[in-house]
Amino acid sequence: MDTMTCIKNRRSVRRFTEQEVPDEILEELLEAVRWAPSWHNTQCWEVVVVRDKDNKEAIIEQLSPGNPSARGVRQAPVVLVFCARIGISGYIKGNPLTVKGDWSMFDMGIAGQNFCLAAHARGLGTVHIGAFNHKQVDRILGLPEEVESVEIIPLGYPAHPGLKPTRKEKQQFVHYEKYAVSTRSDPG
Ligand SMILES: Cc1cc2nc3c(=O)[nH]c(=O)nc-3n(C[C@H](O)[C@H](O)[C@H](O)COP(=O)(O)O)c2cc1C
Repeated sequence: MDTMTCIKNRRSVRRFTEQEVPDEILEELLEAVRWAPSWHNTQCWEVVVVRDKDNKEAIIEQLSPGNPSARGVRQAPVVLVFCARIGISGYIKGNPLTVKGDWSMFDMGIAGQNFCLAAHARGLGTVHIGAFNHKQVDRILGLPEEVESVEIIPLGYPAHPGLKPTRKEKQQFVHYEKYAVSTRSDPG
């Protein structure tokens, strides 16, 4: 599958069949995480692979009320919790280098999407899930203080293709040379 086809045809999948995900495919998808770019190659990700039914149920209880992916997390044979080691990405000698502070969310987004695209290329479905009680999930997974959950990604074979939501047209978000003449004062 070429890159553009993979990017454009990947959909959020929220219903899965019972078909197991072979270990070697999961390993390949985790390899896609491994090769994601990150701030100064800090690779702040920690990935928890959950297959146990009770463990999954404990996580499902922490999803936001009415989260449309709850059933998908229950059905998926594998659920991954993407976590970030805080305080390294975007930092130099313990201090944030930019006004953006901790860049772990950025690195995690790339790593998570690498995973989802690699899964799609293998005929597997995923969905990024961000709406949940992160502190409770951190506790359930036994994460140390410096590691925080960021997103949950269920993985499995799609029961049916995800719906294709519309997208903005490029002219609605692409700006050439400048967005506008700046009215901001010089930040120094
Ligand atoms: C950071 C992030 C958080 C998301 N959180 C949730 C979520 O909590 N529940 C859910 O069902 N989908 C969630 N989604 C999936 C989006 O709703 C979905 O990507 C969007 O509607 C576009 O659909 P598509 O992925 O099929 O292109 C999330 C996506 C992203 C990128």
